[in-house]
Amino acid sequence: MLPERKQVLIVDDEPNLRKILSAQLSRDGYDVLTAEDGEQGLAQLKEHHIDLVITDLKMPKVDGMTLLKRALEEEPDLPVILITAHGTIDTAVEALKAGAFDFVTKPFDKDEVRQIVSKALKTRELRGADATATPSGKGARFGIIGTSAGIAELYAILERVADTPTTAMITGESGTGKELVARALHEHSSRKDKPFIKVNCAAIPKELIESELFGYERGAFTGAVTSKPGRFELANGGTLFLDEIGEIPIEMQVKLLRALQESEFERVGGIKTIRVDVRLVAATNRDLKKLIANGSFREDLYYRLNVVPIRLPALRERTGDIPLLVEHFLQKFNERLRKKVEGAETEAMEILVAYPWPGNIRELENVIERAVLFCDTQRLGAGDLPPEIRGIPAMANVPLPEADLSAALASEGGLKEHVKVAMSRLERELVSRALQQTGGNVTHAARLLKISRKGLQLKMKELGLREGATDRPPERD
Ligand SMILES: Nc1ncnc2c1ncn2[C@@H]1O[C@H](COP(=O)(O)OP(=O)(O)OP(=O)(O)O)[C@@H](O)[C@H]1O
Ligand SMILES: [Mg+2]
Repeated sequence: MLPERKQVLIVDDEPNLRKILSAQLSRDGYDVLTAEDGEQGLAQLKEHHIDLVITDLKMPKVDGMTLLKRALEEEPDLPVILITAHGTIDTAVEALKAGAFDFVTKPFDKDEVRQIVSKALKTRELRGADATATPSGKGARFGIIGTSAGIAELYAILERVADTPTTAMITGESGTGKELVARALHEHSSRKDKPFIKVNCAAIPKELIESELFGYERGAFTGAVTSKPGRFELANGGTLFLDEIGEIPIEMQVKLLRALQESEFERVGGIKTIRVDVRLVAATNRDLKKLIANGSFREDLYYRLNVVPIRLPALRERTGDIPLLVEHFLQKFNERLRKKVEGAETEAMEILVAYPWPGNIRELENVIERAVLFCDTQRLGAGDLPPEIRGIPAMANVPLPEADLSAALASEGGLKEHVKVAMSRLERELVSRALQQTGGNVTHAARLLKISRKGLQLKMKELGLREGATDRPPERD
């Protein structure tokens, strides 16, 4: 799944403040919705999935305090940040008692808002993780779902090693939950209040990896106009997660090995030796033994990292967990998409259990998300599952242009033209269904269609579908 963009709602009657805040938060990577007063704000909350609200206190119609209270009645976990003018501090305190996450006073500092927003979202995420892990108590611990032997073994390992400084090495196919387990190790250790820093070794260009990991001093290379700490330093006291460790360039491996063995290193261009206290967790979907055999991974580093090996089973090796996972994801996407799918029909579940899931849990999650979107009935049916899961080629479902094919083909256009027409019909159908099901929310529809929001807007234009063509108000941003 794509990294999820959080939706922030800004409620303020001052257009300027709305503009400044929206611009800043959009730049920070949030999707922003706005409202001019509390009444509009409440309407937006009903229409959209909102992760965080920033609201002014004094507004016409419904004021910030009422908005706060009503919003929390609907969703007690929703972080609400209040903006207050000087002199209304008493009200701010009252707001905190009523359950606001925090408040800022006008004129506010950009960085302060930024920090509060990210803290609020982080807190909510952690609470969310606990909430899914604990309440049902059904085969979920450490936020990891499963009751199969493989997962029981994983729980046992996590229990034993989570709160130790030992290096762990997580292996498993793509989408088996390596990152989830890395985070669980951190969250269940006494380091949990310290940073969890992730480095994706595959995503960093070879020549930058050393300065990313260890930092650099001013003047270390062209462009190093200031000095900067690396990820090791940032993770001090916490956990450093080296994802896709198999991709780390061989020249870097020696330096990494030394940093691990001695717990010390120097910044690039630096002479001072820096010591850190970091718990290391590494992950890979590559077979490191093979990489060692062909000379692209150092054996000594392998042994240093592989102190506690954690191997995550592929989903097809634990098909017994599929119904639990399906239930978990149904709940998750019901909530997110405001739907009420209660479960899966036997036939659909049989298909889900039989499918080999090359993309493992991530693929299952994506399939359920899509199925929930398209499901019009109480329970997921086989027909809600994508054709590749059901083993039917997608095109088999495309309605044929006309009953009498030979006549149609002979008349004009021929094969190419007819395929084109059928494809664009299919495209139109999928796009409008996605929009329908998300109540016209372009952001959510785009996420489900796995295209960018911009891409969807262009597509809608091309297909002549108007934004906000449903009976709901268009999104603002
Ligand atoms: N046992 C589980 N219970 C619930 N959710 C899970 C479980 N395992 C994985 N997931 C979910 O599946 C998705 C993929 O997991 P994750 O990103 O941890 O996989 P990964 O092994 O790191 O994949 P990749 O190798 O592609 O990076 C995530 O959304 C994660 O929350
Ligand atoms: Mg991963």
